[in-house]
Amino acid sequence: MSLYAVIGGTGLCHLEALTNVRQVSVDTPYGAPSSPLTYGQLGTQSWVFLARHGDPHHIPPHAINYRANLWALREAGVAGVIAAAASGGIRSDMAPAVLAIPDQIIDYTWGREHTLYADGTPPVEHTDFSFPYHAGLRSGLLQAGQRAGLDLIDGGVYGCTQGPRLETVAEIRRMERDGCDLVGMTGMPEASLARELGLPYASCAIVANWAAGKEDGEISMEEIMAHLKTGMARFVSLLQHFGGPA
Ligand code: HPA
Repeated sequence: MSLYAVIGGTGLCHLEALTNVRQVSVDTPYGAPSSPLTYGQLGTQSWVFLARHGDPHHIPPHAINYRANLWALREAGVAGVIAAAASGGIRSDMAPAVLAIPDQIIDYTWGREHTLYADGTPPVEHTDFSFPYHAGLRSGLLQAGQRAGLDLIDGGVYGCTQGPRLETVAEIRRMERDGCDLVGMTGMPEASLARELGLPYASCAIVANWAAGKEDGEISMEEIMAHLKTGMARFVSLLQHFGGPA
């Protein structure tokens, strides 16, 4: 049976539903990953869980060691990576607590260690990234959603901002003009590093709030955490019904 990785984000620092749990601390040429690797069973699959922000949550999006995280998962021998991505909803159907399986990315981040080709070793390759998410893993997630009775949105453009602050209304308007449907802070360089390492990667966006300016007033952390609680329970159900790529 294949081993799949789950990268948990804000609202999912540990995966309580895992059984037969074994925790392993690892190191990589890029330093330590955000958390130990937690191996276990969920549904019909074997999983290894990594907490992107650490457990407890303490690493902000721009300071995550994405290279170490993806390297550690590749070394663990995973067949693919499924990332949980807390997001703000821009498009009108991306409402709080909705789950979406994005199919495109726009990267607005800066200054992050975003490639394994940073210092000239190994020789630079220009990795194809036309379709940033793995088609088979995306379909596998959509099928799992059907089995779980979840109403997943198929597709969407995920815009990745630098954080840790939320966006201004004008920034969200610009992202909307660019074609973004969702906004989050951690999808990049995670997705492109997975591609550089040859790891199939797909993401499940869990909408935590309407993006700035999409409803009256300011965005509160309480609102974000409340919707994430509902959304993450749905995400765990999705994992429980995951049967591999389709
Ligand atoms: N913007 C960026 N990242 C997020 C948001 C948001 O509104 N909500 C949850 N993660």
